[in-house]
Amino acid sequence: MDLPHTNARHDDLSYDEEAVVNPSANAHLGELIGTRMPRRTALKGGVGLAASMLLGTTLPACGGGGDDSSTAAVTALSLGFAAVAKNRNDIVTVPTGYQVAVLHALGDPLHWGDATWAGDGTEAPESYQRRIGDGHDGMHFFGLSDAGAWKADRSDRGLLCVNHEYVVAPYGLHPAGVTAGNRVASEVDKEILAHGVSVCEIARGASGTGMSLTRGSRFGRRITSDTPMAFGGPARGHAVLVTKGSADGTTTRGTNNNCANGFTPWGTYLTCEENYLNVISRAAGDDAKRSATEAAALRRYGLPQGRVSPYKWETAGSSDSYARWSSSVTADSASADWRHTINTFGWVVEIDPFAPDSTPVKRTAMGRFNHEGAWPAPAVAGQPIVYYMGDDARNEYVYKYVSRAVWDPADSTGGLKAGAKYLDEGTLYVARFAADGTGQWIELTLGKNGLDASNTLYPFAHAGDVLTFARLAADSVGATKMDRPEWGTVHPTSGEVYMTLTNNSNRVAPTATPTGSQLRPDAANPRFYADTYTNADGSTRTNQGNPNGHIVRWKETGSQTATAFTWDIYLFGAQADAANDVNLSGLTADNDFSSPDGLAFDPRGLLWIQTDDGAYTDVTNCMLLAAVPGRVGDGETVVAAGGTSTRRGAKATAASLRRFLVGPRDCEITGLAITPDGKTLFVNVQHPGEDGSLTKATSAWPASQTNAAASSRPRSATVVITRADGGPVGLS
Ligand code: FEO
Ligand code: CA
Ligand code: CA
Ligand code: CA
Repeated sequence: MDLPHTNARHDDLSYDEEAVVNPSANAHLGELIGTRMPRRTALKGGVGLAASMLLGTTLPACGGGGDDSSTAAVTALSLGFAAVAKNRNDIVTVPTGYQVAVLHALGDPLHWGDATWAGDGTEAPESYQRRIGDGHDGMHFFGLSDAGAWKADRSDRGLLCVNHEYVVAPYGLHPAGVTAGNRVASEVDKEILAHGVSVCEIARGASGTGMSLTRGSRFGRRITSDTPMAFGGPARGHAVLVTKGSADGTTTRGTNNNCANGFTPWGTYLTCEENYLNVISRAAGDDAKRSATEAAALRRYGLPQGRVSPYKWETAGSSDSYARWSSSVTADSASADWRHTINTFGWVVEIDPFAPDSTPVKRTAMGRFNHEGAWPAPAVAGQPIVYYMGDDARNEYVYKYVSRAVWDPADSTGGLKAGAKYLDEGTLYVARFAADGTGQWIELTLGKNGLDASNTLYPFAHAGDVLTFARLAADSVGATKMDRPEWGTVHPTSGEVYMTLTNNSNRVAPTATPTGSQLRPDAANPRFYADTYTNADGSTRTNQGNPNGHIVRWKETGSQTATAFTWDIYLFGAQADAANDVNLSGLTADNDFSSPDGLAFDPRGLLWIQTDDGAYTDVTNCMLLAAVPGRVGDGETVVAAGGTSTRRGAKATAASLRRFLVGPRDCEITGLAITPDGKTLFVNVQHPGEDGSLTKATSAWPASQTNAAASSRPRSATVVITRADGGPVGLS
């Protein structure tokens, strides 16, 4: 979910992710380092390295980014499709020789007994406990054995977990859109149940590589913003999680705004809570009922007093089902009101898809912020489990979690019990990127790095304080403010980590005096420029700052648990005809893109890049690209638009980056899963027609995929992409 459009509607039910809430005074990179990079410092490695990788040569021990003990070979990969042209069509366009089908869309029934989605919003609210939710986002495929257990190498039968990030009102859900004024209870009930996660059993037909939903499966399940949940980890039972619904702070209800995801080597799914401010309000005058530090922490998490959420769920009635969406002091104690509602969101939530009756667990050791997702490093026996995470808001941070327990492959069938072992006890770190291409992971542990009760940002007196208010802990240790961290992913053999920084309209020129939340560029977020574009209706707009985003990557110094790394910028988003210091990666018509968001290495090492863009949408709908990246340090030092030096990876080529798919109008392409045999790719199309309305539709997808004259309401959906010849997707 994203609203980067400078000219976009910000009406109906939508929360602006770009609303900056990080006013911390911790210096941005340029101030910390006090220098820019020398303009023409040659980096070790060079472009020959990328070429050797494309040819499948085993790499020398040094990847060019500093000390490098990795000797992992990178398998030869060759993109095997013709680039898809940019377009504004109202269909999913895939390469010649590929086919696309819809697996499931908003409102489809998971079980028997519910009517087919009618397309007019008449479905009963309670039926969304058994229907596919809205706003498809992150997802993962788990192979399913005949006995109903996880089978990691199975491709023809599995469970697909899909996040339903948010309700794309007014489309689809209600008969006539959202009723104005205080919310109507039946509409809110339906919205609460249309958020969350779906778990579906899917299977291939007797022949072929396509997939269909196994309706009525015992694994078919909806997890919603009303589902009972438990807390695990250090903040479980802490006072800041006490609510009227849980006097001991050990349980809560609901997961919300589930954006990207993760998965575990013990066969569970991680769903991550991002824009929960969509649904949480706070009463006017509430600050006076709180301590000053408590009120400051609420503001740091985007919830000043008197804030009314876009969805206004709390206005639908006085019962706790609605009252709990206002994080306000209304009683004498926290166990008698919902003042801590906000603290119950922003976590990584673990779900065991193979245990349909299990209670999801919010893993507090992984910290609380606008969790985009949680991306694992490959599990290695005898080594800790490692996750990388981003906080998607402007000027927020990149995090890493390292488990205390070391991986024992005997736990690979352990489900939530294994989750407790590896995800309830560990160390959280936040990243600081230095201008010289190095970086550090700074530990966020109670009692270390000034994180104690004497801290002036927050009196950290309990490990649960550091985790619940991880942003304040990160501010305190001087983490680097980034251009909105979205998805990350880890290369399956090299362990190098990639993360999208989708855009930041609030970067200002290096010579400017920043005001408010503005930041000057730094080496890891280096671009500042302003480009004027013509909209489809002939009007113009200026995109300013870093409107097209970039993808940073890093290599840990030593093992994946290291506290130091080297980094470069793998790719810069740009339109192909942009100036050279904007189009730094040399993108062409076959691979230019803007605002990278979804990002995933598949197990073969192919990198998939998805966009959620508002800066290039006059030319093209959002897209999916496939890439064969090199390694950290394979490029050179460049000077970005605005004058800041940075380390850019090798330029893109026709062999290393190619557009694979273009989505329908006004959509975001997000979420990616693939079967172990590489023959079935799943991609989510979120909010097609977002910029339209019930009376002025801009998309009729997915109906438009097969019927150009369709006039159905658009809806989010999962598509299945296969090769007509049954071969591996993306490769030759
Ligand atoms: Fe839900 Fe940051 O995208
Ligand atoms: Ca979006
Ligand atoms: Ca986004
Ligand atoms: Ca996203």
